[in-house]
Amino acid sequence: MTTKSQALLNWIDERFPLTSSIKGHLTEYYAPKNFNFWYFFGSLALLVLVIQILTGIFLVMHYKPDASLNASGVPVAFASVEYIMREVPGGWLIRYLHSTGASAFFVVVYLHMFRGLLYGSYRKPRELIWIFGTLIFLVLMAEAFMGYLLPWGQMSFWGAQVIVNLFSAIPLIGPDLALVIRGDFVVSDATLNRFFSFHVIAVPLVLIGLVVAHIIALHEVGSNNPDGVEIKKKKDANGIPLDGIPFHPYYTVKDIVGVVAFLFFFSAVVFFAPEGGGYFLEYNNFIPADPLKTPPHIAPVWYFTPFYSILRAVTFPLFGLDAKFWGVVAMGASVVIIAFLPWLDRSPVKSMRYKGPIFKAAVAIFVVCFIILGYLGVLPPTPGRTLVSQICSVLYFAFFLLMPWYSKLDKCKPEPERVTFK
Ligand code: HEM
Repeated sequence: MTTKSQALLNWIDERFPLTSSIKGHLTEYYAPKNFNFWYFFGSLALLVLVIQILTGIFLVMHYKPDASLNASGVPVAFASVEYIMREVPGGWLIRYLHSTGASAFFVVVYLHMFRGLLYGSYRKPRELIWIFGTLIFLVLMAEAFMGYLLPWGQMSFWGAQVIVNLFSAIPLIGPDLALVIRGDFVVSDATLNRFFSFHVIAVPLVLIGLVVAHIIALHEVGSNNPDGVEIKKKKDANGIPLDGIPFHPYYTVKDIVGVVAFLFFFSAVVFFAPEGGGYFLEYNNFIPADPLKTPPHIAPVWYFTPFYSILRAVTFPLFGLDAKFWGVVAMGASVVIIAFLPWLDRSPVKSMRYKGPIFKAAVAIFVVCFIILGYLGVLPPTPGRTLVSQICSVLYFAFFLLMPWYSKLDKCKPEPERVTFK
């Protein structure tokens, strides 16, 4: 470094912790040396967050949250999205990046959460990282739900109608709560405007705040790894973990490989299949919202369908309260229960590598049920499908609720002293 740039750096360092932050979070942040494929998804989630914010900024420049009809009888909001697609230079690309980004976000976050499950990353001392993660997941769902209303297509309108109506099932406060959310007695211009405001500013702010908290918590305790071994327990004379390597350059370079591979798949969808076969952009949403025409089959976007199936699986009233209420409770509980994983898993080891056959079988059944629930959630219900989703919902909850019991019962292999690395 030249004396001039060194002097500039010193000047900054005296006023702002630049060098110490770079050291603390990158060049002298020691991460386990055995990260594998599953460790790509945290940085990819960050990448998608950035893509969504950048493309979102450009979309807002042309989008209009207005449900009134234009001279051609088309809602202004719907027409403004068509305008972005057809008239704004590069608008189609920005919009497809954003719509594909929404689905990509959930793909990446689901895989990221699954990694946590595989390696017990939620266990002590990483409980708070996990809780922030669950909150991120909840907020992300709210963000996606509100964003979906904005194109003001048939699915936007009727999807919002169904979901907001669910809140009215809550005893006493329900109907008023639904009214506050909608700002009207039906989904209307008022709803569109408040969802726009939340989608564009309020929820992203919360999301960014939570992601920052998530990473601060991670850097406080350090990363877990595929062996579930705490690398901070074995340090050299300089206090550096024996199994740790500096995050930069080792993992910055590794993460770039992940980014390139991800962008390869992501661009393939954006350029060749942006509708994702009707899963990323639903066909009904190319029709302007019409409050007088209910589509025959209303299904949420694919990333919500496992939880939507759980909602629909409750078909019977209980304790004098109707099925809809219990469906909402089951759906809410199916997300909230994820936050309790750190206290439900009583296994003596963290990583799946050393867990016994019972835990492995439980995770396998859980994953299969989650996929079946997701699949059934896009289909219209029939008695047979409802029965299957009821069985899968019971197994979904059993995975969590019985975990304190079966995780203790299991025959685990001994965890190694040091990480395994070939
Ligand atoms: C916007 C969404 C999210 C972003 C940007 C994000 C970002 C990150 C990053 C950059 C890391 C470190 C790299 C890695 O371990 O892969 C990480 C670790 C972690 N995240 Fe997330 N995350 C998100 C959502 C979630 C969710 C929804 C959960 C779980 C409910 C979660 C749980 C964890 C856990 C447990 C770790 C520590 C993993 C370990 O040390 O093995 N994250 N996250």
